[in-house]
Amino acid sequence: MPEKQSPNVVWHPGHLSQAERWSAIGHRGATVWFTGLSGSGKSTVATAVEKALLEAGRPCYVLDGDNVRMGLNGDLGFSAEDRDENVRRVAEVGRLFADAGVVALIPLVSPYRAARDNARALHDAADVPFHEVFVDTPIELCEQRDPKGLYAKARAGEIKGFTGIDDPYEEPEAPELVLVPADGDADAMAATVLELLG
Ligand code: ADX
Repeated sequence: MPEKQSPNVVWHPGHLSQAERWSAIGHRGATVWFTGLSGSGKSTVATAVEKALLEAGRPCYVLDGDNVRMGLNGDLGFSAEDRDENVRRVAEVGRLFADAGVVALIPLVSPYRAARDNARALHDAADVPFHEVFVDTPIELCEQRDPKGLYAKARAGEIKGFTGIDDPYEEPEAPELVLVPADGDADAMAATVLELLG
């Protein structure tokens, strides 16, 4: 995968391996990557998973696309290049959280397959479990929900390059889990996601 790396840097190892670190903490890290259209329910399911994990005493953290774009990724827009950089940075942060023993819950539109595959590859390279969850809500339903009024703006031409309207969404080919509206409410969906984590 394309690695970004500063020149003249040398990896400084810690005293504990990942396995020793997870064992010392008593928790295993992982990344759960939720992809799907805006309004598909990714964040709602991710926060339901977060609640369940925390109630069970398992450290986790939600890295939500909208939220991360208010800070770390606030310099990025929605061009193809910026979306790829958005995905790359969040994947790197998720990998670090997971390596530290935290379950990183990442709801991100992440519309391009290649960028998601890169996210998976960097987790594989770090021996961190990566679970891709496709929140497969039809665009008609997302648009009907339109929780932020963005579909209306996109249809009115006020937002250009909106995913699913005039920018592509490339469906995952081999996600670990697909969630469809018939699976029930966010808690029911969260229960299926929790099975992935064991
Ligand atoms: S991604 O494409 O780079 O993965 P991300 O998940 O961070 O997207 O942000 C998507 C959120 O930004 C949407 O839920 C929506 O609230 C908002 N948004 C603003 N402009 C766009 C756009 N052009 N396409 C998709 N989402 C947009």
